[in-house]
Amino acid sequence: MVRQATPEDRFSFGLWTVSWQGRDPFGDATRPALDPVEAIGKLAEVGAWGVTFHDDDVVPFGSDEQGRTHHLSRFRDACVEHDITIEMVTTNLFTHPVFKDGGLTSNDRSVRRFALRKVLRNIDLTAELGAKTFVMWGGREGAEYDGSKDVNAALDRYAEGVDTVAGYIKSKGYDIRIALEPKPNEPRGDIFLPTIGHALGFIAKLDNGDIVGLNPEVGHEQMAGLNYTHGIAQALWNGKLFHIDLNGQRSIKYDQDLVFGHGDLLSAFFTVDLLENGFPNGGPTYDGPRHFDYKPSRTEGFDGVWASAQANINTYLVLKERALAFRADPEVQAAMQASGLAELAVPTLADGETVEDLMADRSAFEDYDADKAAEHSYAFVHLNQLAVEHALGAR
Ligand code: GCO
Ligand code: MN
Ligand code: MN
Repeated sequence: MVRQATPEDRFSFGLWTVSWQGRDPFGDATRPALDPVEAIGKLAEVGAWGVTFHDDDVVPFGSDEQGRTHHLSRFRDACVEHDITIEMVTTNLFTHPVFKDGGLTSNDRSVRRFALRKVLRNIDLTAELGAKTFVMWGGREGAEYDGSKDVNAALDRYAEGVDTVAGYIKSKGYDIRIALEPKPNEPRGDIFLPTIGHALGFIAKLDNGDIVGLNPEVGHEQMAGLNYTHGIAQALWNGKLFHIDLNGQRSIKYDQDLVFGHGDLLSAFFTVDLLENGFPNGGPTYDGPRHFDYKPSRTEGFDGVWASAQANINTYLVLKERALAFRADPEVQAAMQASGLAELAVPTLADGETVEDLMADRSAFEDYDADKAAEHSYAFVHLNQLAVEHALGAR
């Protein structure tokens, strides 16, 4: 059953998603180019509230000023006409061959200066369009060969680049935050900032890290065998979940960019549960757009493109219904209680207790019956089965 999205759902799509022509390393395009103006109209029809784009998605690389103005104004007009919000902008530092060794971390300094200028021009555009998030996905920042990169210098240059951009945003007084998007590999053999954790460590070293956070993508963490829901949970815990890329991925392999939920469905359920219901004991919550970054499979014609766009929204809304029902179910609440979820929120040391007090507490160690405590049955399986049944719509 098709659910009706509302603007309050704040579903948004990368313009490059539905516009993907299906070109892959082994085959040519299977669909013709899509006019951004037409894409905006169709996205509005399926229930999108917002759109995001790379500079080159709207303005072909190398366009002159006149061409740039023309393409941008057509695009803006279409967004206004269909009441679509431009919520995020990003820069393409990966398609043109000049970026074959990266943009901000290329061994060639002139490429780095060119890349930085391309990004800074886009920051002005982001401000002009009123978008609040600027994503930096460094797909070409990396290497195929360990000997070809001085990783220490590359990270210095990456930090220099991001700090320069963030400093520029501040100096202009723009209301924009940067969201870095981790990915382990593809197109480079190994990409710098491969996971959420690497990126958080990187941000902590920046001078202007206060306005730099993350845009984690489901499939990218799963390509590294990691748990996406735990990843965004840690980003939330760090106050760094600025944006999200929802899609689907089936295990550790090439970047599939499937429809959201078409990969690990139970993981998608828990992702939606976290986004919609928050942590069981409260804590930071995500209030940004629900942004889809997927690729309509190259087997599909345009009918399939629009069906897949709709599928992202529908899957999210179904999972949201299921996640709300899960949390509201008294049996689930009892199972959470039995599993000790609330107890985890109780600090390990009592209020005012010192480490000396803990050392003096014989019941915590000397007299502690570890074998007895090991008998504790946590009842996690029952709780998970309830989640599975809710996710399946069986409860
Ligand atoms: C990928 C990436 C890209 C980026 C996008 C933003 O699938 O490898 O998700 O799609 O998100 O290009 O720069
Ligand atoms: Mn991807
Ligand atoms: Mn992405």
